[in-house]
Amino acid sequence: MNLVHIDLVDKKYNIAIENDVDLSASLLSLDISTKTAVVITNEVVAKLHLPRVINPLGKFFEKVHVIELPDGEIYKNWDSLNRIFDSMLTWECDRKTVLFALGGGVIGDLTGFAAATYMRGIPFVQLPTTLLAQVDSSVGGKTAINHPLGKNMIGAFYQPQLVICDLSMLETLPARELSAGLAEVIKYGPIADTQFMEWLEGSMDGVLAKDRNALAYVVQRSCEIKAWVVGQDEKETGLRAILNFGHTFGHAIEVGMGYGVWLHGEGVAAGMVMAAELSRRLGFVDAVFVERLTALIQRAGLPVKGPILDATDNSGRYLELMRIDKKSEAGEIRFVLLAEPGKAILRTAPDALVREVIDACCE
Ligand code: NAD
Ligand code: GLY
Repeated sequence: MNLVHIDLVDKKYNIAIENDVDLSASLLSLDISTKTAVVITNEVVAKLHLPRVINPLGKFFEKVHVIELPDGEIYKNWDSLNRIFDSMLTWECDRKTVLFALGGGVIGDLTGFAAATYMRGIPFVQLPTTLLAQVDSSVGGKTAINHPLGKNMIGAFYQPQLVICDLSMLETLPARELSAGLAEVIKYGPIADTQFMEWLEGSMDGVLAKDRNALAYVVQRSCEIKAWVVGQDEKETGLRAILNFGHTFGHAIEVGMGYGVWLHGEGVAAGMVMAAELSRRLGFVDAVFVERLTALIQRAGLPVKGPILDATDNSGRYLELMRIDKKSEAGEIRFVLLAEPGKAILRTAPDALVREVIDACCE
């Protein structure tokens, strides 16, 4: 088992990365003093992986309730959250009840927000089942639901007690979802670690074939970089924003197309090309680096062009959507750009230049 430590001012926890995890052994490290657990999952993941979680949990807890939500980004909303609260109140779950998020980023973000707000905060454990969730969303304590006008607009910073990345769960993950997760993996290269980017360039075939050693390194290195960033800036007062490389454009794509039409990772992929191209046009990186990044994204099976969101004024529509971004200040969009390969910065850019980039990067 490999461990990555998250070390924050008032919270420390581990990310355990392993094949075929023994969940009951992993839970021994936690200070659990309740008889009740609630597993939150969705209908797809429940069919594939719930039994291997329920049995070990049954050894620990007298009562193990399950909430099975419908599958999809469109369900990362108030209705699902209320469904969780209704069930937990009906079951008389108290403040010590432990929530388990079994699923991808949608379930993880929703469960985390439910844990942050139920009775003003209860413990939760992340059991991420997608690559995206293992390398990014389950780590670092960002929890949220979507609003029709903007991604992840309602949420809280709230850290889990433990994250368990069981690589064997990825065996059932469809190829499109594996690629979507790779967008968040690739982002760590240009923003923080060009050696990791080189490794990915040389190892992409093994990663796409789900070679266990390759996946183990992908999850480990991604979590290490995320832990390093979050350890310095848990609440995103500065540095943490670099983890949103490609996300300003990507969130516009997700909202503009309708939640779930483009996967989160697909929006981020096309968004990273736009952010890199904007960095180039501002004189920070050269065309060779933008081409290299674009080629890597393409090899991962991801889109490198954004969709047309509005046939009459496409760049205007992107700009309108991008102004509703948590990094915006007084309506001014702040982009995560590349100061150089391996180093990201937060900058504004003239609308005219952003429009040129969008025109060049959409089809
Ligand atoms: P997801 O949760 O929708 O999962 C993708 C699909 O894979 C779903 O259909 C799901 O049912 C299915 N699935 C999950 N595990 C599976 C498995 N092992 N085998 C087969 N199918 C499986 O999407 P995602 O890509 O995991 O996460 C995207 C979400 O994460 C977005 O809402 C995004 O905003 C959020 N996110 C959050 C953070 C954060 O820091 N909190 C970071 C990045 C992304
Ligand atoms: N995925 C962005 C963050 O965790 O900050």
